[in-house]
Amino acid sequence: MFKIAVLPGDGIGVEIVPEAIKALEAIAQKYGHEFQFTEALVGGAAYDTTGTPLPVETLDLCKASDAVLLGAIGAPKYDTLPVHLRPEVGALLPLRKELQLFANLRPCILFPGLLAASTLKEEVISGVDILVVRELTGGLYFGDRFREATPDGGQKATDILSYSTYEIERIARFAFEAAGARRGKLCSVDKANVIETSRLWRETVTELAKEYPQVELTHMYVDNCSMQLIRNPRQFDVIVTENMFGDILTDEASMLTGSIGMLPSASIGGQVSLYEPSHGSAPDIAGQKKANPLATILSVAMMLRYTCKLENEAQAIENAVRTVLAAGYRTPDLMEQGGTPVSTVEMGDKVVEAILK
Ligand code: IPM
Ligand code: MG
Repeated sequence: MFKIAVLPGDGIGVEIVPEAIKALEAIAQKYGHEFQFTEALVGGAAYDTTGTPLPVETLDLCKASDAVLLGAIGAPKYDTLPVHLRPEVGALLPLRKELQLFANLRPCILFPGLLAASTLKEEVISGVDILVVRELTGGLYFGDRFREATPDGGQKATDILSYSTYEIERIARFAFEAAGARRGKLCSVDKANVIETSRLWRETVTELAKEYPQVELTHMYVDNCSMQLIRNPRQFDVIVTENMFGDILTDEASMLTGSIGMLPSASIGGQVSLYEPSHGSAPDIAGQKKANPLATILSVAMMLRYTCKLENEAQAIENAVRTVLAAGYRTPDLMEQGGTPVSTVEMGDKVVEAILK
């Protein structure tokens, strides 16, 4: 039996998470596994009820589970709260830190059925299969930040960016291993022409490369990478980068897959791994049954792969998604070139049908 902590969170989180649970239940039924789901509050939903975005009970539940399934957090109404109470800084970042999830895997795969759904040209994106390995517990998002008054009556804001050799080495090692198991190409992305953390990053990755002679390592500046991703994305196999660059580049890379609603993620490194879609809580479409549940459904496929070690079952979900997309079913974010429009729940139902077939 696998114990799953379920944290739907805010906005479309509460709509997409049930669809991923349905997919896991279909897997349980078909392959004879058992999943135990326990729900807890996180983000704005937790703040509204308990006064804190990450209640101790939620964290304890996560630590006592085999895996965490997270929807999304945040909504405009929380944007004016003191920073430590905001869902992002008060819940998501501490959750990642507490669970020691230093490696965030974001596979950007273009399902053939979605070739025409992207805003980018088919000949550019056809066959894209990139794994972005984003460092998740260091860098700017976890550095000290503060403000000071300046003599001219204004203010000065500071965010500290630091990385240690240890932090760089463990994420780079992870990426080298991942590249070794794929097409053997690793691109390390930094801004070593300007910032010091990036120079340490590049030195450390270069040094580690000696242990992985079978992996072809290249380095790329982040500004160039953002351009290369849409110029010629098929040049990439595995990309490894620091926290903020990874945050930005994965939103960009999601467009290679047709929609950010297609980008799953796994955050690993500690005892308990966390699975969540790479997109946010999408307040603009929340409550309208429009959200694409596939990123979350593909995230539980990653859960089956990495936590449950059930590769066949993981592929069963991915194949079901492929089937449903090939049959033309589309949530609004995928409707660029038409198709059969479906709601969040109908998309989930179609995936379940395809799993059980
Ligand atoms: C992501 C999100 C988060 C991040 C936000 C919600 C804090 O954008 O998972 O990419 O920046 O890590
Ligand atoms: Mg992001």
